[in-house]
Amino acid sequence: MARIVTTFPLPDAALDLLRPLGSLAGPEGWRETMDDAEALLCLLTDRVDAELLGRAPRLRIVANAVVGYEHVDRDACRARGITVTNTPDVLTDATADLAMALLLSAMRGLSGAECSLRAGEFHGWGFWDYLGADLSQKTLGIFGMGRIGQAVARRAAPFGMRVIYHSRTRLPAADEAAAGAEWVEFDGLISRSDVLSLHAPLTPDTRHAIDADALRRMRPGSFLVNTARGALVDEAALVDALRDGPLAGAGLDVYEREPRIHPGLLDLPNVTLLPHVGSATRETRTRMAMLAARNVHAVLTGGAPLTPVP
Ligand code: DGY
Repeated sequence: MARIVTTFPLPDAALDLLRPLGSLAGPEGWRETMDDAEALLCLLTDRVDAELLGRAPRLRIVANAVVGYEHVDRDACRARGITVTNTPDVLTDATADLAMALLLSAMRGLSGAECSLRAGEFHGWGFWDYLGADLSQKTLGIFGMGRIGQAVARRAAPFGMRVIYHSRTRLPAADEAAAGAEWVEFDGLISRSDVLSLHAPLTPDTRHAIDADALRRMRPGSFLVNTARGALVDEAALVDALRDGPLAGAGLDVYEREPRIHPGLLDLPNVTLLPHVGSATRETRTRMAMLAARNVHAVLTGGAPLTPVP
């Protein structure tokens, strides 16, 4: 019987699937149970590094119940023949929805307006009060055109936005047409976007892709939305760009040093700040947990993982 360790509470359906395969341990004290673990279900807040792998000589699968996997030492897993899986697709819609919510909030200044109302500053309708920016006829730039980037592009079209994108690999023509998006070089993305939405994975190549220099080259009065990973952006430079221009606002769900938020961001009224909730719907989180459990089931019963990480 296998030992299956989980770092987070699993839904009943996942427990029902896994119980027949062995004994379940965690989430309480899960680290202490790794010595005979064959499967680990984990999250982006769990660092799966050489030290942890060293405690788990029998480990066969790391089933990440999120899509990002920068917290897993894949080389060390590969060297040990440990399968690593993630949860693509099942969170695409929820995350794309949240990107649109942040885009709307940033462009219409919703956080600042609500704070002002709560502070008792709303004294009646004012013609020139609480002005935001139209979405219609604006250019949405998407950095990283995977599943979520494409889902955001499809959502932006009905708002009357033009969509341009930059991705490591250009989409096939049919996918570009379905997304209604035009491929541009990174420089064109930065200089042409009225709102730039980030959807790239965090890798050594994309870390700080949006640095002080890129921010300086953005359009005056433009916006930044980040639902991907905080470290895609140099957060200190972002604070400067929001304070002194050229950015007019931002919508952020992710941060460079979570759960720490740059104090400069907390002081700015033109930024909507959310606590990393892109995939946080009951339905989506249940699908993510179930996919992780199904990956464990597949590998422990001798099958192929459903969604292996490349
Ligand atoms: C992920 O899956 O990587 C997200 O950041 C959490 O939804």
